[in-house]
Amino acid sequence: MSTPTGDADAYAVRAIRPDEWEAVKQLRLDALRDPVAHIAFLETYDEALARPDSFYRERAIGSGEGSGTARQFIAETPGGSWAGTVTVLLEQAGTTDWAGCPVERRQGHVVGVFVRPEHRANGLIGMLLDAGVAWAWRQRAERVRLFVHADNTRAQGAYRKAGFGPSGLVVSFSKDEAENELEFVRTR
Ligand SMILES: CC(C)(COP(=O)(O)OP(=O)(O)OC[C@H]1O[C@@H](n2cnc3c(N)ncnc32)[C@H](O)[C@@H]1OP(=O)(O)O)[C@@H](O)C(=O)NCCC(=O)NCCS
Repeated sequence: MSTPTGDADAYAVRAIRPDEWEAVKQLRLDALRDPVAHIAFLETYDEALARPDSFYRERAIGSGEGSGTARQFIAETPGGSWAGTVTVLLEQAGTTDWAGCPVERRQGHVVGVFVRPEHRANGLIGMLLDAGVAWAWRQRAERVRLFVHADNTRAQGAYRKAGFGPSGLVVSFSKDEAENELEFVRTR
């Protein structure tokens, strides 16, 4: 079921439950079929499809209600389908993040951002990001950051509207590519 655009209040934004791994997997696979997936995500559809169910079970537990290290939020339509998602990882000062970059402060790191095409341009992404940021503040994060590809101008527009802006840090996630991942930050 699809919710009409322009009616973001019709969605329920909530954290996933630890047992919802099958829906987590399906939404991820759908995200990886997006035309901009190659610049939006760090794995391919085939890689995600090949992962065993245990991977998704563990991921749902690790980012579901009750986890202190990550939280995945989804937007549910009145019909119960999932329209979009963001995940926030809690990073600790003095550690190295999943991309190999040093972490200098306690912060949230937004990953896995996806809104199904029929639910875009209606404010939903702002609701999802606000939910993720609010969770990070409750975990006493000093700031929330994310990386967005230089060519992903639509995502950059959505992040700016949600209060994020470029920090000036630009990195590469691949030895074969130029530095093209922009760090965007939202502070309290
Ligand atoms: C990124 C994403 C979640 C944003 O949600 P959305 O509902 O599309 O975002 P919005 O439409 O609210 O905001 C995008 C803004 O960029 C603008 N925009 C759209 N296409 C654009 C383009 N090609 N170039 C520049 N700006 C663009 C829009 O006009 C809008 O700004 P406005 O509301 O001031 O007009 C969604 O597009 C998506 O899932 N994309 C595929 C996956 C992805 O890229 N994830 C992010 C990985 S970092």
